Amino acid sequence: MSDPRPATARGALAAHGTAGVPFRDLLAVEELAIGEMRRVTVGELDLLLAHLEGGVVATDDRCPHMSAPLSLGRLEGCLVDCPLHAGRFDLCTGETVRMPTTGGLDAGGVYHAPWTPPGREPKAEPPDLKARARALTRTHRLRFYPVRVRGGRIEIAVPR
Ligand code: FES
Repeated sequence: MSDPRPATARGALAAHGTAGVPFRDLLAVEELAIGEMRRVTVGELDLLLAHLEGGVVATDDRCPHMSAPLSLGRLEGCLVDCPLHAGRFDLCTGETVRMPTTGGLDAGGVYHAPWTPPGREPKAEPPDLKARARALTRTHRLRFYPVRVRGGRIEIAVPR
């Protein structure tokens, strides 16, 4: 089974502390059908394991915006929707494909205004602390844990 992410994403977006770490057994590949995702907890790490058309990927089960569990969202192809602010993230590339409704900074540090219904004027944000916090919250790229399938078992490398 191959890893569906491009080589650039695999290297640059590797989760910290996973280089050279031994793989450990997680579950049988038949327990996670293609098109399914689920939370798997390893020690203190809550992981999102997704079986995509091209293979199995693992990332944190924390939205890269404000940490909501992506496992409660919706998976369609490579794309997962966050249940909290409707951000949409690409599990094949690690990129944000739809910013959260609250707006804020994208991974490159570019500001996005909060979502406005089509045809409506953007609402003026009150200059309070919450609005400033939303505006300065950066939505990062996803980070991936090395995953492989051996003998019908999904194995993962996580920091020791
Ligand atoms: S926590 Fe996921 S989009 Fe805000």
